[in-house]
Amino acid sequence: MQSGRSAAPVVAIVGATGAVGIELLGCLERRNFPMSELRLFASARSAGKTLPFRGKPLAVRELTEDGLNGVNIGLFSAGSSTSKRFAPVAVSKGAVVVDNSSAFRMDAGVPLVVPEINPASVREHKGIIANPNCAAIISITPLWPIHRTNRIRRLTLSTYQAASGAGAAAMEELRESTRAYLDGREYRNTVLPHPYAFNLFSHNTRIDPATGYNEEETKVIQETRKIFGDSEIRVSATCVRVPVLRAHCVSLTFECERPISAAAVREILAGAPGVKLVDDPEKNYFPMPKDASGQDPILVGRIRQDLSDPSGHSVAMFVAGDQLLKGAALNAVQIAEQLL
Ligand code: A2P
Repeated sequence: MQSGRSAAPVVAIVGATGAVGIELLGCLERRNFPMSELRLFASARSAGKTLPFRGKPLAVRELTEDGLNGVNIGLFSAGSSTSKRFAPVAVSKGAVVVDNSSAFRMDAGVPLVVPEINPASVREHKGIIANPNCAAIISITPLWPIHRTNRIRRLTLSTYQAASGAGAAAMEELRESTRAYLDGREYRNTVLPHPYAFNLFSHNTRIDPATGYNEEETKVIQETRKIFGDSEIRVSATCVRVPVLRAHCVSLTFECERPISAAAVREILAGAPGVKLVDDPEKNYFPMPKDASGQDPILVGRIRQDLSDPSGHSVAMFVAGDQLLKGAALNAVQIAEQLL
């Protein structure tokens, strides 16, 4: 986007018909994002469809290079291969791309941004800004204010990841396979590698034979270091897909440089941006996907001392965040707002 441009930007959503794309439309509308034009792109399969925006149907077009002429801000969420091919084209035509895929996240010249954590790095972009992995955003947004107060030197986490992270087709597979299971019908899974209804499985990404970690776990580990600007933080992750439609949960245990109490963590998080405490031991009420779905803040609770660390440096907690909102579309639109 050219500096000094005063008119409202032309915005494009690439992957507008997808699970994240639909939420991008919703976030732009809800947050009253200033635009002179909004263009919706998807694959040729969707050309001619319409999606509602500000009370009117907006046509979806097949993504082409020419379609990107004149675009100022491109919000890309159509997978890595589409981003690799079309994001540089959009940039060459003068756009700034906020990319939700993993294509550029670990590139040295590409900022990887969670606006509550490292908003200033947006300014270092050379055309592309990467939106982090959803499990990484949901895990580390509540950890940042703690890390700033008392550096986290070691983090162990386990995720409980919803179908939405694998796209609209995976959400449909969860619905359909659940119906089939309850009706006693056979269902052959085609999107995810294992039966999904009333089951859970290790995250559906390739495992690195050298480390034993899958790609999702590796992303969480590497992206935490990049976003925190702390290459020394030690992270171990176990990523699991659970039969939930759209909000991810994460169990987090972290060890700080200095002793830290559960009460201190609760106090830090009570005023933290992008976070809401849901921590009621009396009622046994803690973060749940059903409460996080459709919500902007990440819900945090079950905050307690980690009893396996008698030195008092470690705390455990449980979070739930909407994968499609803060884990993807909302974070991307918050980044775009920094460009205005
Ligand atoms: P389409 O609906 O036409 O397939 P999800 O992550 O929910 O699966 O969504 C993926 C999004 O990316 C959809 O909007 C999809 O469009 C879009 N998409 C997939 N492949 C391409 C492509 N080659 N060019 C443009 N958009 C694509």
